[in-house]
Formats: sequence, structure tokens, C-alpha cells
Amino acid sequence: MKYNITCIPGDGIGPEIVAEAKKVLEVTGRKFGHEFAFTDILMGGASIDVHGVPLTDEAIETAKAADAVLMGSIGGDTNTSPWYKLEPSKRPEAGLLKIRKALGLFANLRPAFLYDELSSACVLKKEICDRGIDLIIVRELTGGLYFGERKTYEENGIRTAVDTLKYDESEIRRIAIRAFEIAGKRRKKITSVDKANVLDSSRLWRAVVNEVAKDYPDVTVEHMLVDNCAMQLVKDPSQFDVILTENMFGDILSDEASMITGSIGMLSSASLNETGFGLYEPSHGSAPDIAGKNIANPIATILSAAMMLRFSLNLQKEADAIEAAVKTTLTEGVRTKDIAAAGEETVSCSKMGDIIASHI
Ligand code: IPM
Ligand code: MG
Repeated sequence: MKYNITCIPGDGIGPEIVAEAKKVLEVTGRKFGHEFAFTDILMGGASIDVHGVPLTDEAIETAKAADAVLMGSIGGDTNTSPWYKLEPSKRPEAGLLKIRKALGLFANLRPAFLYDELSSACVLKKEICDRGIDLIIVRELTGGLYFGERKTYEENGIRTAVDTLKYDESEIRRIAIRAFEIAGKRRKKITSVDKANVLDSSRLWRAVVNEVAKDYPDVTVEHMLVDNCAMQLVKDPSQFDVILTENMFGDILSDEASMITGSIGMLSSASLNETGFGLYEPSHGSAPDIAGKNIANPIATILSAAMMLRFSLNLQKEADAIEAAVKTTLTEGVRTKDIAAAGEETVSCSKMGDIIASHI
């Protein structure tokens, strides 16, 4: 069967890591008798440089017509890149927000787990790491502060800015349902994270989550304030199974969760719409400091490609094969710089891709 995949190489290390994911997909396709046809679109800084905007309508149409979208990363150094001299709606990140909204990708799944092979990379104390980390953040992705009305203006000669945090119950309900479905297939525990001691939007969030919970009696729900959650993630991450939260809290907590595993270069993510169509990308950013050096870790992108096969294309065996190939490669001790222990030999980004592809 033929599948059309729209790829967004993007900026920084994006093109390097996407190239390795394509390599692994091609080998997987040959082995299992599928054809993956890749069409690249520009997004982020790469699109700004060519079109003056971070995402064109044509690029959105190409993505919409595909079976799934595979992305690298976008954005540059916010202190030095000329892209950040543009007005905010023309900067690289605006492209990512626009494609999420245009494709209706409201459910962002960000797993964070500690690989046995890489447990020495865990940044927490050994007795905490030994309890293991295996959680998934289910982040609402198309509402809240990042999509609310905003403006900057002067009030009595004083510069003032306002951002709006708004959720309606249907937006909360659909992401909560996703989280409960996922928890049902895992350890059956949801921690819904909010700031209900202050925010109305959080109080509505909590009420709707409790309503949805009634339909999932086998899943345990607890509510946690976001500041406490930030603390609990470093104190005892083993307590979490599924963390359900709104857009900005999920943005912040998912960086924290991935960092404590010590292997942000290993973690994939999926952003899905109602029908299972999705955009898949590594949880890490564009790492402009190491771009073009062929030293980035392509594993998060390769695992994102596996997630794409699993969730959007329903190719389970093929996804298993990619995940197993990554595991074998790690067991052999193959390491890119970011996951190598001191003194360990390292391989390049493209070599890592070659080795994983050879294990398919
Ligand atoms: C992420 C990123 C984006 C977000 C930025 C680049 C807009 O940080 O995917 O977490 O905040 O959603
Ligand atoms: Mg983020």
C-alpha cells in the first residue's frame, strides 16, 4: 500500500533528524511491502526565508491531503536569529501554532520514560530513578492562552499587554476523553493538573474532568495543582501514569518530564485530531547550537515515525519493528553524544540512522 507523508524538516537540526527518520521508514516500507511517498513542506524559519511567512496556505493544504505529517523541529536562537525581529505573528513558532489549529490537532501526547539502557542519564537521585519513570502527558493543544485573544497597547501612557485564557466545556471534554481512553490501556491512573485554587478556567476543567470520569469507573482520577505537579515530577515521577492538562501547563510540564529522564533526544510525540490524523514530532526543539554538525540524536524523530505508523496508519507490526530496532541499537551500546556516558564512544546522527535501519 502507498502512504503519503508530508514532512516538515524545519529549522536547526530538523532536516538532519527527519532525513534519518525517512531512511528508517523507507527500509521498513521495503521490508513490509509498503511505499511511503514523502512530500516536504516549509515551516518556521525555513518558510520565512523563502516566503516571508512561517507557513503558507499551500503548505497547509499539502499537509491536509496527506495520510500523516512528520515534523523535525522549528525555530532558531531567540536572542540572535533575525526571525525574532519580525512581528510575533510572522515568527517561526506562529507556523506551528497555525498548523495545529488548521489541522484540528487538539490532543498532544508526550510520553516520558526512562530507558533501562540509559538509566545512568537520569538526572535525579539514584533511589528516585530506580523507581522508574513511565508517564505520558496528554496536553490540550489548540485552546487556552496560546490561542486566546491578545494585544499590546498603552493605557494612560503605560505599556500594557493582555493574553486571554479561555476554555469551553467541549474543548475540555474531548481531551479528557482521550486521556481516559489512554489511561485505560496503561496503569489506569489520571492526574489532572490545573490551577483551580486561582483560575476559573481550571475550576471548569476540574468539573468537566470529573464528569467524564464517571464513564471510566476503572480509571482512578486525582487532581493536582500545577505548581505542586512541577515539584512532584522531580520528587517522585514514578507516581504518574497519565498527566492530563491544558495547553500552557502541558508545554511547561512536558519539558520538565522529558528532561528528568535525561534523554530528551529519545522522546517522541503525537498531535492528533478527532479522526486519528496526526502530526508527529520529537519532543525536543531545533537545537540551533548543534545544527548542521551531524551530531544530533535522530531517535526521537525515528520513534515519532513509529508512533505515526501506529496511530495514524494502523501499521502495528511495522511500528513494533522500528521500536525494536531502536532498542537493539541501544542494547549494542550505540550512542549519540547527548546520551553517551562520559568517555563512551559516540556516533553521528546519520550513522545512528544507518544502524537503526540495518536492524529493521
Ligand atoms: C512545544 C513548543 C511550542 C509550544 C512552541 C514552539 C510554540 O514549545 O511544542 O512544546 O509551546 O507548543
Ligand atoms: Mg514546549
